[in-house]
Amino acid sequence: MSPAVLPPHALHFPNGFANWIAALEARHLRALTFPEVSRALRALSSTYVERRGALARGSALSGGGKRAAFALFYGPIHFLLVHHIVQSLLDASRSPGTLIDLGCGTGAAGAAWAAACEMPPQVIGIDRHPWAVDEASQTYRDFGLAGRARQGDVVSATLPGGPASIVAAFAINELSDPARDVMLPRLIDRAARGDRVLVVEPLAGFVAPWWKQWQGAWESGGGRADEWRVRAELPAIVAKLDRAAGLDHREITGRSLWIATRAADRRASS
Ligand SMILES: C[S@@+](CC[C@H](N)C(=O)[O-])C[C@H]1O[C@@H](n2cnc3c(N)ncnc32)[C@H](O)[C@@H]1O
Repeated sequence: MSPAVLPPHALHFPNGFANWIAALEARHLRALTFPEVSRALRALSSTYVERRGALARGSALSGGGKRAAFALFYGPIHFLLVHHIVQSLLDASRSPGTLIDLGCGTGAAGAAWAAACEMPPQVIGIDRHPWAVDEASQTYRDFGLAGRARQGDVVSATLPGGPASIVAAFAINELSDPARDVMLPRLIDRAARGDRVLVVEPLAGFVAPWWKQWQGAWESGGGRADEWRVRAELPAIVAKLDRAAGLDHREITGRSLWIATRAADRRASS
C-alpha cells in the first residue's frame, strides 16, 4: 500500500490538553525567561536537523533550556499529531490494553493516544533519560491517567506483555542502526501476537533513511503507512515559540506506520 497523503484537517484539543499546557508553561517558564527558551528551541531544532550525530549522545535534552523547549514546544506538537493520527485510524481509540510508549520523552504520545480512548488505558512510558521519565510521569498525572514512566533503554527493556498497544513517536530515528535492526522484528512480532503498534516519525527523508525498509515490513505484516499534514491552531505559548524561533508549524506534518493484525482492527483501518 502506498502512503496516503491526507488532506489538511483542523485539530481539536482534547480534554485535559489546555490544563497540561498551562502546567507546562508555569513549570518551565519559572526558572527561565521566554527569550532563553526560544533561543534554546533554535539550538534544539538545529540538533534535530543539522547535528543529528549528537542525538545518540542524548545531547537534545542536555541543559535546562533545551529541556524546557522540548517540553513546551515539541511535546505539544507531537501530542497534537499523535492524537490526530490515532483518531484518524478509526479503531485505534478502541480500548488498547496496556499502552506502552517507547522513548516516551515527556509522555506526549502515550497521553495523546490515551486521551483519544473512551476508556483510557494504563500507560507505561520508557525512556533512557531521567528528566524525561519525571516529565512523563507528571504528564500522566496532569491528564488524570493511570500511568508511570520508567528509565530504560527500549532495546534491552523487558516490555509488558499483551494485550498492548505500543507507540514509538519520534524515537526510532534516535536509535543506532543495530538497535533499530533489533526493534523492527520485535515490533512486527508483537503485532503478529495481537498487539497494535504505531510508529511516528517526521516527514523529512533524511531523518529516517530506514523508512522504506520498515514500511515494507509493516505492509508485509498487514499494516499500513500514512503521511499526515495537519493544519493546527497551536496553543498560544507554542505559537509564540514557533514565531520567536523562526519555525513554522502552522501545519504539523509527520508519517506513521500502523499495524493491528486482529481481524476487527484490520477491517476498521483498511
Ligand atoms: C524526540 S524525543 C520524542 C519523545 C516523545 N516520544 C514525543 O513524541 O514527544 C526522543 C526520545 O527518545 C528517547 N530515546 C532515544 N533513544 C532511546 C533508547 N535507546 N531507549 C530509551 N529512550 C530513548 C530520548 O531520550 C527522547 O526522550
